[in-house]
Amino acid sequence: MAKIIVVTSGKGGVGKTTSSAAIGTGLALKGYKTAIVDFDIGLRNLDLIMGCERRVVYDFVNVINGEANLKQALIKDKRVDKLFILPASQTRDKDALTKEGVERVLTDLKKDFDFIVCDSPAGIEAGALMALYFADEAIVTTNPEVSSVRDSDRILGILQSKSKRAEEGLEPVKEHLLLTRYNPERVERGEMLSVEDVQDILAIDLLGVIPESKAVLNASNSGQPVILDSDSDAGQAYLDTVSRLVGEQIDFRFLSVEKKGLLKRIFGG
Ligand SMILES: Nc1ncnc2c1ncn2[C@@H]1O[C@H](COP(=O)(O)OP(=O)(O)O)[C@@H](O)[C@H]1O
Ligand SMILES: [Mg+2]
Repeated sequence: MAKIIVVTSGKGGVGKTTSSAAIGTGLALKGYKTAIVDFDIGLRNLDLIMGCERRVVYDFVNVINGEANLKQALIKDKRVDKLFILPASQTRDKDALTKEGVERVLTDLKKDFDFIVCDSPAGIEAGALMALYFADEAIVTTNPEVSSVRDSDRILGILQSKSKRAEEGLEPVKEHLLLTRYNPERVERGEMLSVEDVQDILAIDLLGVIPESKAVLNASNSGQPVILDSDSDAGQAYLDTVSRLVGEQIDFRFLSVEKKGLLKRIFGG
C-alpha cells in the first residue's frame, strides 16, 4: 500500500526541500518506487535541487487542470532507478491546487508508487494545509531554535486537527521529528537548542538529526540531492534517516562535537 509522507515545518528555510529531495532519493535507493511532489507553487525549488529544472515540460497544476497526464508530467531521475519528480507550477495563482484535484493526482500516484513524498511550502496557510491534508505520515522538519520549534508545534496541532485522517477519525498521521542544520558546537556554547530540548518540547519520535554541513550547499549547487554524496556527514545522516523511516534501528551520529586528538590540536585540521 502506497504511503503519502509530507515534509512540513511551518517555518520557511529550515530544510524541507533539501530533506524531501534527500529522503525521496533515499527511499528509491532502497528499492521503493518513489515520487517527490513539489507543493510549493510559484517557487519550484525541488527541481533545482534535484537538477532536473531543464527537463520540466508539464507540472502538477497542468495535471490537475487536465492539460497533461501524470506520465507526461513525471520526470524520471537519471541517476536513481524508481525515482520520479512531479514539479510545481510557476503560476502565481496559489489556489491552483484544489482539494479535489490534489486528491485525484495522489490517488493516481498511489496506484503505481510505494512512497509519495510531498514537499510542503512554508507557512500554515492554504498551500501548506494542502500538502499535509492527505498525509499518512509527516516529517516535521525543525531547526534547533525557538522560532522553528514553535512553528513546528503549530504544525503538529494542524496535523492532529485539519488532516484528512483527523477529519475522518482515522488513525492519526504518524509524526516524525527531523532536526536539521544541527550544530553541536553551537549547542555546547548554549546558542542553540539541543536534541533533548527540542524533543522535550515537541514530544514526537526522533527520525533523524542532520548536521549543518557545507555539503548541502555544494549538492544543491550541482543539482544533486545530498544523500548521493555518501562521503558527507549530511549525506550519511540522511541515509540513516531513511533507514529509520522504513523501520531499521540505526544509532544516531553527528550529535556531539568531535573531540580533536592531540595531533589535530597541535597541527590543526
Ligand atoms: N543541513 C544543512 N546544512 C547547511 N545548510 C542547509 C542544511 N539544510 C538546508 N540548508 C540550507 O538552508 C536553506 C533552506 O533550505 P531549503 O531546503 O530550501 O528549506 P525550505 O524548503 O524549508 O525552505 C538552503 O540554502 C539550504 O542549502
Ligand atoms: Mg522549500
